[in-house]
Amino acid sequence: MQPARIAPRDRLIVALDLPSVASAEAMIDRLGDAVTFYKIGYQLGYAGGLILAKQLAGSGKKVFPDLKMHDIGNTVMRGVESVARLGATFLTVHAYPQTMKAAVEGRGGSSLKILAVTVLTSYDDDDLHAAGYRLGVSDLVEARARQAQALGVDGLVSSPEEAAALRKIVGHQMSLVTPGIRPAGAPTGDQKRVMTPGRAIAAGADYLVVGRPVMEAADPKASAEAIHAEIAQALA
Ligand code: C5P
Repeated sequence: MQPARIAPRDRLIVALDLPSVASAEAMIDRLGDAVTFYKIGYQLGYAGGLILAKQLAGSGKKVFPDLKMHDIGNTVMRGVESVARLGATFLTVHAYPQTMKAAVEGRGGSSLKILAVTVLTSYDDDDLHAAGYRLGVSDLVEARARQAQALGVDGLVSSPEEAAALRKIVGHQMSLVTPGIRPAGAPTGDQKRVMTPGRAIAAGADYLVVGRPVMEAADPKASAEAIHAEIAQALA
């Protein structure tokens, strides 16, 4: 996918990190046409959010169930088939070769795109070694990015700081989706390594995932519009 072909407004993915479908629907109403793309993670997904995802897709929005799947191949493949039937646009899986292969099989020729999570950003080298890995974070991220590309995975989730390096490895064939975005002056919360929307786009990100800076803004719609403006400026 060539990044230049993605409309600037479709590059902002708002994370609906909310506890209930009712609170998510209220937020979606407030955001109106300012947001075209929503991410639904564990919190909302396990509270009825996947039914909401189907409704959103039916109403013309794009949806990204952030389910970070990982299981035996057959289970992953069948699960991905079900997510494809929701009408979702993106789905995350962990970047294990068997899992990625099964996910690509499960999405088949549907319009669903599979994103691989290379190494969770909360992991450092010590965490990987404690979990039994030989490689450190940067080597494992690179190895998994290459495996993802070879297996036909559609994109990668990474911190914005990894985006430029990953772009060099995978070229423009894969989408890069980056959380950890904070407009200048916004509280960082628990995110340690953040970038502004403009810098993340300049580093090579195709899509930006933004949660709290929109969810917790006094005026969420104005916050989303300001991010759109910054994305458009970075692309100009
Ligand atoms: O509120 P905030 O903008 O930090 O939300 C970022 C979203 O992206 C959350 O839904 C979080 O789970 C997700 N995410 C992340 N870092 C990753 C992967 C996903 O923050 N490495």
